[in-house]
Amino acid sequence: MGKIQSCIAEGSAAIALVMDERASKYWKEDAGAAIENMLLAIVALGYASVWVEGYVLDQEAYGKAVLGIPKHLRLLAVLPIGKSAVSPHQARKKTLTEIVYYENYGKREKP
Ligand SMILES: Cc1cc2nc3c(=O)[nH]c(=O)nc-3n(C[C@H](O)[C@H](O)[C@H](O)COP(=O)(O)O)c2cc1C
Repeated sequence: MGKIQSCIAEGSAAIALVMDERASKYWKEDAGAAIENMLLAIVALGYASVWVEGYVLDQEAYGKAVLGIPKHLRLLAVLPIGKSAVSPHQARKKTLTEIVYYENYGKREKP
């Protein structure tokens, strides 16, 4: 799996997100929520991870073959888990005034 993206092999473990598209109309939203919850849990337990999906989807057939995933299921993402080698830089968070509109899209003034 490390051929998909090297960080998958660098961690001590990795979770593969396998989804059934037929299970729900909202399977992608379900997966996104599950992935976010797992990332939060991984960090809360003192480990690090990264949402690897772009590279996984580009090489989904290869990843499914490596893991023996049945044809009708999707391999959507992989979450490598390990101890962080570096202290990650926290990107600047936008302030509320930069991201909030009031009542109408584009309206910056509070009513
Ligand atoms: C849908 C999705 C797909 C992603 N795919 C990859 C990926 O294939 N490889 C990777 O290194 N990171 C991937 N990421 C993680 C992003 O590169 C980035 O680390 C993450 O969104 C946090 O970025 P931020 O701290 O700038 O908000 C993906 C993130 C999302 C939401």
